[in-house]
Amino acid sequence: MISLHSMRRKLWTYLLAVILFCLVLSYCNIPVTSRAHQAEGVSAALGDDDTQSVWRRLQPYHPVSSMRPLPTGKPLSLPKVQRRFGKESATACKVRLERQAVVKDTFTRCWNSYRARAWMSDELTPVSGSRRDPFGGWGATLVDSLDTLWIMGMRHEFDEAAAAAVNITFDETTPLGEINVFETNIRYLGGFLSAYDLSGDKRLLRKAREVGDMLYVAFDTPNRMPITRWDLHAAARGEDQVAHENVLVAEMGTFTLEFFRLSLLTGDGKWFDAAQRIMDVFYEQQNTTQLPGMWPIVVNAKKQQFNQHNDFTLGAMADSLFEYLPKTHALLGGLLPMYREMYEAAMHTAAKYNLFRPMLPDEKNVLVSGMVGTSRTESGTVTELRPDGQHLVCFAGGMFALGGKLTQNDDHVGLGEKLVDGCVWTYQAMPLAIMPETFNMLPCPNRDHCAWDERKWKEEVLKKAGEQASDLDKADVVIAQKRLPKGFTSIGDTRYILRPEAIESVFVLYRITGRTDLLESAWAMFQAIESNTRTELANSALNDVTVAKDPSMSDSMESFWMGETLKYFYLIFSEPDLVSLDEYVFNTEAHPLKRLLP
Ligand SMILES: *[C@@H]1O[C@H](CO)[C@@H](O)[C@H](O)[C@H]1NC(C)=O
Ligand SMILES: *[C@@H]1O[C@H](CO)[C@@H](O)[C@H](O)[C@H]1NC(C)=O
Repeated sequence: MISLHSMRRKLWTYLLAVILFCLVLSYCNIPVTSRAHQAEGVSAALGDDDTQSVWRRLQPYHPVSSMRPLPTGKPLSLPKVQRRFGKESATACKVRLERQAVVKDTFTRCWNSYRARAWMSDELTPVSGSRRDPFGGWGATLVDSLDTLWIMGMRHEFDEAAAAAVNITFDETTPLGEINVFETNIRYLGGFLSAYDLSGDKRLLRKAREVGDMLYVAFDTPNRMPITRWDLHAAARGEDQVAHENVLVAEMGTFTLEFFRLSLLTGDGKWFDAAQRIMDVFYEQQNTTQLPGMWPIVVNAKKQQFNQHNDFTLGAMADSLFEYLPKTHALLGGLLPMYREMYEAAMHTAAKYNLFRPMLPDEKNVLVSGMVGTSRTESGTVTELRPDGQHLVCFAGGMFALGGKLTQNDDHVGLGEKLVDGCVWTYQAMPLAIMPETFNMLPCPNRDHCAWDERKWKEEVLKKAGEQASDLDKADVVIAQKRLPKGFTSIGDTRYILRPEAIESVFVLYRITGRTDLLESAWAMFQAIESNTRTELANSALNDVTVAKDPSMSDSMESFWMGETLKYFYLIFSEPDLVSLDEYVFNTEAHPLKRLLP
């Protein structure tokens, strides 16, 4: 028996010891929750039972001579991202939970159909009820959906899915001739890491490491730049490899979140080293491009020249390179200042050159992110804005808002809001209330004031259609033929492929600002998408969202529908502390990864 007295004494001794310990720690700058320490525990528990994997047995041709060390030290306490939400009214709560349940129903229907008809395949074909394997046949939908199952509280389904997912073998027996390293990284590695971060199930971390071991072989080149469209069969046969000359910049610059997290969790720094090497090249060349601050869409991995081409965008083919800059800053708790620096320099340039205010019939003050082309003349570099919009670039609103919070830059939060408002506007303006893949709008001469000018709009429609700008009667014909709502000057790609980017940014901005109109926008988007894409079994991509009703379906449901789109719809109608942005960052496939916190 311990007397009260001795217990008190023990308590004091204990407290004194703790205080001394903390003093020593802070003096030596040793992080209290040292990840290196945690990582050792994890990797010991993981065991090395997959050392026999084909990828680990390969001898590297170009081993790393000096590894970049994993960052250590105490993570900074970064500014809060999420707004402090007050108490919710009973009515608001009821509406929110009803909507959340509807989203979950949609997910459950899709999941059950995938399970019944396409189990272990990459995708269900949602109209014909068959299956398809565009991502190596490693169960892309299964792995992409793991964390969504967890978040939606579908524990039984999660357990079954996790048990099946750990059975997948990531080796060269895939029927694909080459694999897309970027997609494999964001969907599979990201999927396993996030399912592990949420559930703590070690088997999933082991699986993440297996995917990581496979991808690491794509980096075995003379300059350690990866092969992004990778012939893994040749690699498995032991052939030497060289990085390619023309590579999409997003496919070079989208490794840090997954590779850093994998190194932090396993204690094996090789993935950190692999991704950091690429980012060092981006860093060195950031201000040497034709649009300093940004990098062009195509870069040369073989020669490590990231500054030669002259098309610049935040959209397709470049997007997640930029997205990962503020997110890596968050993941690492600011331990490597270069990520914040790169984010700030890149967005300074993008805000000035890529963002434009479109001329809209209701004169709403929104922004769209377009493409910038550069050309060198005798008097210097000339830039030209090509005012295209994309569904995909809607992620940018969330990026600016998140980056703005993390760097305490209210201007960026403001730009994020206008970009999100632009995406919401575009949804509402379409006949089905769904945004098309790509479109063009007319930029205003400046961002402060922008009167609607119907004649100007029609002239631009004619120009885009390759017609004489003076023939305004012809403009009405083109507008009717192409079903152009006022404000759109052309719609290049009329599809909607169940993409997430608009709801993603609406969700992020809602968590940051608490603007309740965003909940209504999200709900309108969900209803429009659900009612138009619903099939007997699941939901399908659409061929043309410019029609007034009954859009035709393309029998495709990519894994991001359940991995991303429905997850963001669910989360915006959840309690704001479910996967808080102050604890997690989402990779570009909507997989939340734990941030290093002080
Ligand atoms: C895992 O694979 C083995 C062998 O192929 C099979 O017998 C088992 O049923 C699989 N388990 C799951 C959960 O799919
Ligand atoms: C690039 O320029 C920005 C200022 O626009 C600066 O903050 C950054 O440090 C520069 N990067 C390098 C590598 O010099």
